[in-house]
Amino acid sequence: MPNNRLPSVHLVGVGAALPDPCLSNDDLSRMVATSDEWIWPRTGIRQRRILPPELSVVDLAAQAARAALDQAGILPQELDLLLLATSTAVDRFGSAPRVQAALGASRAVAFDLTAACTGFVFAVATAAQFLQTGLYRRALVVAADVLSRAVDWTDRATCVLFGDGAGAVVLEAGEVGADGILSIELRSDGKGSELLSLAMATEAKPLVGSLRVGQYRCCPIVMNGREVYKFAVQAVPEVIEKALLQAGIPAEAVQGYFIHQANQRILDAVAKRLQLQTQQVASVLERYGNTSGASIPIALAEWIGQGRFGPGDLGVMAGFGAGLTWGAIVFRWGR
Ligand code: UT7
Repeated sequence: MPNNRLPSVHLVGVGAALPDPCLSNDDLSRMVATSDEWIWPRTGIRQRRILPPELSVVDLAAQAARAALDQAGILPQELDLLLLATSTAVDRFGSAPRVQAALGASRAVAFDLTAACTGFVFAVATAAQFLQTGLYRRALVVAADVLSRAVDWTDRATCVLFGDGAGAVVLEAGEVGADGILSIELRSDGKGSELLSLAMATEAKPLVGSLRVGQYRCCPIVMNGREVYKFAVQAVPEVIEKALLQAGIPAEAVQGYFIHQANQRILDAVAKRLQLQTQQVASVLERYGNTSGASIPIALAEWIGQGRFGPGDLGVMAGFGAGLTWGAIVFRWGR
């Protein structure tokens, strides 16, 4: 339900960036012991996109951001805030200011936010708070990841799942009491952190005289697929139901469910639990694989581009992933 005392927050533009080239299931079967017959029925994925080595997550993020700004009809200089949701930053001190510089968003304060595949949902929720308090008027949220640089390409249990991509939305503060973002439900449970990780391992080395100083090394993605699957099919419908209840919207009134694109079987299980029609649930993972936090805005951008979702429509975005983290946002699209 719109809050009658605070400015509303509208989602007014979306964009996506997907690199070339494609890596198909057949290509993968020449790299590891796998096959299209294994991957497709278990995941719904046929191919994924891989960012060429000369490009970075910043290039991908900036491309998606420009598309979102174009659609919103907003100039980069008009942005007050830029959040980059990523787990594959080029600089662990933060990559958002580089995206800000690439766009020429000179007035925007820019910082990173990391919540794995839930990063986009958490970042939209965070940006919305700045707009609701009246501190800022226009924000850009970009989710971008290059997980092809984070997987172990000899581990068939993970390397077949992920792809590279970016998606972005523009948020704008509106009138008090108007429809925009209608509810937000966010969750974390660190007890499940071992189920899915992209860890910085620390090793102690004698570096400064007799003082032992720790040094970081990176580990590739490690995942307990079965347990993450069980978590997702339980937690995602629950959090969506909570968000719908809080918004006072029945599940059938929603035109588009934009759920993190990890596995078609998870999307189907969530749809079944919430008794949704297939045509209400966006699915783009066949062509892109799991693009982490970017998967929700990529799906939203496709649906809007195809005219399947548009101004005045009700949507739900729901993310889940490492942390563990998960969350859902109910919104009415457009100004
Ligand atoms: O955004 C991140 C969130 N992550 C997820 O949502 C992942 C959720 N989990 C899943 O989507 C599924 O668990 C997977 C698709 C990852 C795996 O499907 P599964 O039906 O749970 O398979 P499994 O891990 O139980 O493995 C079954 C078998 C194993 O062989 P054995 O032990 O039965 O002989 C695996 O070694 O399949 C084998 N296997 C493969 N075989 C061919 C695992 N990966 C592959 C592969 N190709 N790529």
